[in-house]
Amino acid sequence: MTETSVTGAAAEARVGLALRVNGAERRLRIDPRATLLDALREGLGLYGVKKGCDRGECGACTVHVDGRRINACMTFAVMQQGKEITTIEGLAGAELHPVQAAFVEHDAFQCGFCTPGQIMSAVACIREGHAASAAEIREWMSGNLCRCGAYVNIVAAVTAVARAAAAGGAAAAGAAGWATGAGADGGAPEAGAAGGAAEAAATGGAAAAGAAGGATGAGGAGGGGGHGPAARTAGS
Ligand code: FES
Ligand code: FES
Repeated sequence: MTETSVTGAAAEARVGLALRVNGAERRLRIDPRATLLDALREGLGLYGVKKGCDRGECGACTVHVDGRRINACMTFAVMQQGKEITTIEGLAGAELHPVQAAFVEHDAFQCGFCTPGQIMSAVACIREGHAASAAEIREWMSGNLCRCGAYVNIVAAVTAVARAAAAGGAAAAGAAGWATGAGADGGAPEAGAAGGAAEAAATGGAAAAGAAGGATGAGGAGGGGGHGPAARTAGS
């Protein structure tokens, strides 16, 4: 029987690549046409990265690449070699990331499917300085859809974290992991989190799914995402 890759290509058609994901180098052989989303999910087993529309419309697949949010379904995995990729599994340290904790506290999810993307997008949204008001949050996270309609509580959660970060100043923001731009999502803390609370949340029940799940995320550099100002800015 012919061996196939995550996108169905014959074994001889695969290419080898190395991706740096959540602080660790991961090697795999995949169809060169495989998206980053399929490589993360089917190649590396990172199922916290959700496949919703698979065409850049829903934000469920939002991850960070070099600190910027992108839609993983809209970029080829082979294009992301040499970059720091962070998924929801790598977001937390020893404790939940403040945005994850806020989603739990504010009950910002129902089924949890969109939550990983929502959280990843929210972290970037705050870091970009696009969370000064509810209206701004809604605009800059407009690429992340929630079919359960949990938007009110999502905005409340993001607002709470943004205000806390602003009140705490640079030191607090740095401690929370969103003070810097590109590259902020790499490094050992997130690598350590890959097997921790965030991963459990990504694969666990409702509360956990919400925590690890993700925020809405508009596409970013290379993502080709079609939603929201963040996508346009990041792709510019
Ligand atoms: S799966 Fe919907 S934007 Fe990627
Ligand atoms: S789609 Fe169900 S919580 Fe967003």
